[in-house]
Amino acid sequence: MYPVSATVNIDGRITDAATATVSVFDHGFLFGDGVYETIRTYNRMPFLLAPHLARLRASAARLALDIPPDDNELAARLRDTMAEVNVDGEVTLRVLVTRGIGPLSYDPAACPTPTIVIIALPHQAVPPELHRDGVRVVVASVLRNHPRSVDPSIKSNNLLNNVLAMQEAIRDNAYEAILLNHRGELAECAQSNLFAVRDGVVLTPPLDAGLLEGVTRNFLFGVGEDLGIEVREEVLREADLDSVDELFLTSTTREVVPIVDVGGLQVGSGRPGPVTGRMLRRVRERADALSQVDG
Ligand code: PDD
Repeated sequence: MYPVSATVNIDGRITDAATATVSVFDHGFLFGDGVYETIRTYNRMPFLLAPHLARLRASAARLALDIPPDDNELAARLRDTMAEVNVDGEVTLRVLVTRGIGPLSYDPAACPTPTIVIIALPHQAVPPELHRDGVRVVVASVLRNHPRSVDPSIKSNNLLNNVLAMQEAIRDNAYEAILLNHRGELAECAQSNLFAVRDGVVLTPPLDAGLLEGVTRNFLFGVGEDLGIEVREEVLREADLDSVDELFLTSTTREVVPIVDVGGLQVGSGRPGPVTGRMLRRVRERADALSQVDG
């Protein structure tokens, strides 16, 4: 069942969830040929909109996909689409740009006009008990796409790599799946970036490991500076999980979520750690403050 509470914008036209449809000849449907962003609001303002739209355009450019509307036009469409969604609360916005409608051909010229869809949904916050108790994840057997295959730095609608990893997590009743890269290094999770804490320093796999450059991941470097906590990139391997004090994941919709168990192996004390807690609180404080200023 689709989310009935969603409002959808297709190429500038707003519809309800029941009538929101795109053509079966859209190459987003036929080939997964497209890109997307997930954005959320704080104080009903799309948070970190500029970096999200910049990443959307960067992802699209990697596919030689043009996004004709400028950022002001996209921002206006976001505002219009979310206007009547969850009016007393926050909204999650998914922006999708696909190659558009055309014949069954891989030639980009076959589709002159991209399809631009915005889905606005009531924001589903991470249940507080997950922050309190932490979550269990697995290390997936499927590897993160090689950067010379479908590059993980492209936020593409072609999500089978992520889907397969999440199926492994779901089969094991786990919240997320950690993916290794082709060198056996930790890359990221199926839907989020990964961070470890060791000796008070926050570590995250480098971009070179082959991962999505998360907007929240980038935000965390500043949050660390704010708190006087060093946050830096470091190559991490599965064996390092034995010696880390804390582990957490980040994403736009999930903020910061502590991981206390990886495939049955306890992380640190087995409880969410103090550094993770400080990072989460400061992310929320900064997000709240920044969305007041912008308003
Ligand atoms: N997912 N890595 C992957 C593979 C992701 O799909 C995501 C985000 C992230 C975190 O990126 P950010 O901090 O910019 O949200 C990392 C979004 C939330 C999604 O798929 O809906």
